[in-house]
Amino acid sequence: MKKSLIIALTFIMATNMFAELYNIQTPNMSLVIDASKGKKANFVYFGPQLSSRELNSLQTTRGSRMDLYMPYGMHCTSESAMAMTHADGNKTTELFIDNISEKKQAITARNGKNASGTHLIIDMSDPSYKTAVSLHYFAYSDVDMIETWTEIKNKEKKEVLLTQYSSGVLPIRRGNVYLSHLYGSWGNEGRLSSEKIEPGMKVIKNRDGVRNAHTDHAEVMFSLDGTPTENTGAVIGAALCYSGNYKLRIDTDDSDFHYFFAGINEDNSEYHLMPNEVFVTPPLALTYSNEGLSGASRNFHKWGRNYMLANGNKERKILLNSWEGVYFDINQKGMDQMMNDIASMGGELFVMDDGWFGDKYPRKTDNSSLGDWVVDKNKLPEGIEGLLRDAKKHGIKFGIWIEPEMANTTSELYEKHPDWIIKASNRQIVQGRGGTQVVLDLSNPKVQDYVFSIVDNLMTKYPEINYIKWDANMSIASHGSQYLSSDRQSHLYIEYHRGLESVCKRIRAKYPDLTIQACASGGGRANWGVLPYFDEFWVSDDTDALQRIFLQWGTSYFFPSIAMASHISDAPNHQTHRTIPLKFRIDVAMTGRLGMEIQPKKMSEDEKALCRKAIEEYKTVRPVIQMGDIYRLNSPYDEDNVASLMYVSENKNQAVFYWYKMRTFINEHLPRIKMQGLDPNKYYTIHELNRIDVRPLPYEGKSFSGAYLMNNGLDIPNNHSVAGQNQSDWSSRVLSLTTE
Ligand code: GLA
Repeated sequence: MKKSLIIALTFIMATNMFAELYNIQTPNMSLVIDASKGKKANFVYFGPQLSSRELNSLQTTRGSRMDLYMPYGMHCTSESAMAMTHADGNKTTELFIDNISEKKQAITARNGKNASGTHLIIDMSDPSYKTAVSLHYFAYSDVDMIETWTEIKNKEKKEVLLTQYSSGVLPIRRGNVYLSHLYGSWGNEGRLSSEKIEPGMKVIKNRDGVRNAHTDHAEVMFSLDGTPTENTGAVIGAALCYSGNYKLRIDTDDSDFHYFFAGINEDNSEYHLMPNEVFVTPPLALTYSNEGLSGASRNFHKWGRNYMLANGNKERKILLNSWEGVYFDINQKGMDQMMNDIASMGGELFVMDDGWFGDKYPRKTDNSSLGDWVVDKNKLPEGIEGLLRDAKKHGIKFGIWIEPEMANTTSELYEKHPDWIIKASNRQIVQGRGGTQVVLDLSNPKVQDYVFSIVDNLMTKYPEINYIKWDANMSIASHGSQYLSSDRQSHLYIEYHRGLESVCKRIRAKYPDLTIQACASGGGRANWGVLPYFDEFWVSDDTDALQRIFLQWGTSYFFPSIAMASHISDAPNHQTHRTIPLKFRIDVAMTGRLGMEIQPKKMSEDEKALCRKAIEEYKTVRPVIQMGDIYRLNSPYDEDNVASLMYVSENKNQAVFYWYKMRTFINEHLPRIKMQGLDPNKYYTIHELNRIDVRPLPYEGKSFSGAYLMNNGLDIPNNHSVAGQNQSDWSSRVLSLTTE
């Protein structure tokens, strides 16, 4: 063939002359895919919504690999989205489109709510091997989120081995792109890291087996216009909605694109797919915003509250949790006293944490009894009935802690069912917390039934239980299932989470209104895989208000405040031993689902009065905090020593503004913070919440236009005007803004 002809043909193939473009849209976004029968599926565009006129003249990309879902084997040099070994040992797969369907659809969203949107399905198959792969894209009609997932079907006569199975792929054009993601560890979850994406591969992964959010997170943001900014600039957000091990890859090869892959972590998890079995990946949620990182967060929050989080639009109660107040020292009188105290401060719910259970082996500390979910009659002679009666007496609701996926080797459960725990054959049991904790094998249907029965028995016996704190304090430490056959051991991580999800679905079907917290040694379960079955999560076991500013800042990138349990705790703090005044501790806890984690008996009357006032005021702004739009204003990670954020109600009639001084130096100049998200033409009256100062702020009760507050901002005094003995080096403010 002549060179000129080859060039001409290449040109024709590279333009959209013969392309069949599918433009699926949310209110503000478009995802454009080129899909024609008999051909390969290609990615074309993801970003702000496109008109049909623009679509007609859209350029497709030349010179770079634009495969929508690259299988391994016929382009070995590129990173692949999926890989499999066919029954005859062939490691290559090729996928060509058989069918494309695009339809408007009403669906039941993951949290059970009704949703509508556009569902694009691209069915592909391998002409030589009968492997079928369907790519799904669901674009919501009322929130800016597209979920994509993949179904892999084995149509061969014998089983095949899946060795890679991404949920989805997104090419991102190179050019000063930054990645923001969360990292951390126990007590230090949700730390924010932002870095420029350089050539090579960045891998973000988890291998805990049970929890997946202590260290890295399965959610990321890409700032497309250089250094990340909160309220301006183009940002792509992505969240893999999965509770187990994940792997996110960002591969920057010799092309013009960064290739983002997200899916279950395939390490030690090769999957034997039987004839006609379909492997369904977890969804990957994609969003885009032109309003910076905070804009992408607002998209995640809105989608999360409406369609992902259990009861995502129902206001949360203000609670006292017993853990840091009494730890394992549970007894009936003590619980009654705590209930009385939280009720008298205006709280609405009391949660009895660890330490209430065990008959043959009473739970005195963390080394026994998990699995024996019967009341310790020595501690609670009148049982849960007595506690429910006392809660009623105080006019509040009652909640309880359990850790259903776990056992201790010192427990009646383990004595009866030693074969129910995770353990590798021919190996010693690896024991965790307290030296005796073990993980139950949720791949086993009998264990699934048992875990369901823990909640079901409690709720059947005590239907008035209003709240469950579901904990999970151990990882899969050694790889071994006593239930799965020796040739299916590699399915353990996947089957564990299938088992967990199936139990959660059964619980939610029967108890849709029960409030359930996902706790996992603190923030180990802040993920969109479990949240359709949980109302909230415990952000961290670290309740230190200063560190919580960082923890909650990072976590707010992907999760709404309504889901973030945030408690006022003791001073000195039990984790950091830092002493922070109550006012500051309250102001930090008030950015999320407010609660207390303290022994009120030890508080002074003044302290109780301050909490009472804070709870009363929180109730007046609760819908704005729990359901409002977040605007992060000044980062605690910046060097200017102020952290500030705000929530604005959807109709922009109300807002709550937070300001925290991060350290004190005499005569230091702190920045004036410009607000965001207000209506420039509306006038807002300022009222300080949780005020401790003897004099009100100069603008207390005064009104300012949204334009002034956003262009200028209010000057916040560096310190509080309080009597000498109450002075400290801490300073914080919470301002309520209401329209006239
Ligand atoms: C975990 C949780 C804590 C508390 C303890 C109880 O560490 O994160 O909040 O419930 O377990 O043992």
